[in-house]
Amino acid sequence: MSNPTLATVITGASSGIGATLARQLAQEEAQALVLVARRQDRLDELAAELKQQHGRRVEVIALDLEQPGAASRLMTTVKALGLEVDTLVNNAGFGINDRFGDMALDRVQGMMQLNMVALTELCHAVLPGMRARRQGRIMNIASVAAFQACPRFAVYGATKSYVLMFSEALAAEEKRNGIRVTAVCPGATDTAFHDIAGNHGTFVSKLMDTPQTVASSALSALRGGRPVVVTGLLNKPLPFFIRLLPRAIVTWFAGILVEREKTA
Ligand SMILES: NC(=O)c1ccc[n+]([C@@H]2O[C@H](COP(=O)([O-])OP(=O)(O)OC[C@H]3O[C@@H](n4cnc5c(N)ncnc54)[C@H](OP(=O)(O)O)[C@@H]3O)[C@@H](O)[C@H]2O)c1
Repeated sequence: MSNPTLATVITGASSGIGATLARQLAQEEAQALVLVARRQDRLDELAAELKQQHGRRVEVIALDLEQPGAASRLMTTVKALGLEVDTLVNNAGFGINDRFGDMALDRVQGMMQLNMVALTELCHAVLPGMRARRQGRIMNIASVAAFQACPRFAVYGATKSYVLMFSEALAAEEKRNGIRVTAVCPGATDTAFHDIAGNHGTFVSKLMDTPQTVASSALSALRGGRPVVVTGLLNKPLPFFIRLLPRAIVTWFAGILVEREKTA
């Protein structure tokens, strides 16, 4: 059998930050791309655009990563395509702006499955190949929500704290094996995330970065081997100030930022 082709797998590539990362990667790097999300039509459209504009090999895998076992099905499909993962971008994720006790349990479970479990399983699946080649890159999309408790985003914030802590530990463990791991912490970014979360009319939704700025900072951090990057000039000092302030004040303020305006 011929050697597998090295590929970049991007989850959540059908919109927002994931689609933007795919466009920037297709422009700047030569690897085959694998685009993953649930909406096949949007992935097909993006794949056609990238093939036409950059002449890249682009594969589409339509998959619901909230389903248990989805990560393993994804890796089986990638292998069957004759591809080996050199770069994994764990970007798919969502949040909901609501009080935890008012949220449907199945949405909470889906969020934890997608934001944490699928991400972790995908990292676990790609490590053996990367270790054997002594080369590989993993980008995990966390959030500035990772740095403090987030009222109205209690579970979402906690999933992103998990992503940040897990990724930093993984970066430290795998450096000796030639594998780079970067946790990306964007602030509010102008994507469909806020429609899905029900975040409009909140203070944070008025201070958005573009997905283009987030994607280029994320890629330069990945290429530079930085374990953590906070994207956006206004967001960069946040972790420093959060460490200085009393936790109760930080938690209260985080809640204010995502409180929805009252409608009459
Ligand atoms: N936008 C922000 O303000 C912000 C800030 C910090 C961090 N982030 C993080 O950035 C990442 C990307 O979000 P975004 O802002 O680009 O939002 P987005 O435009 O809503 O993109 C989310 C992506 O995840 C995919 N996805 C959602 N559920 C999925 C599932 N069950 N299975 C497979 N794919 C699924 C969506 O595709 P389908 O619907 O087609 O499946 C879509 O491609 C997320 O991890 C988010 O938490 C966003």
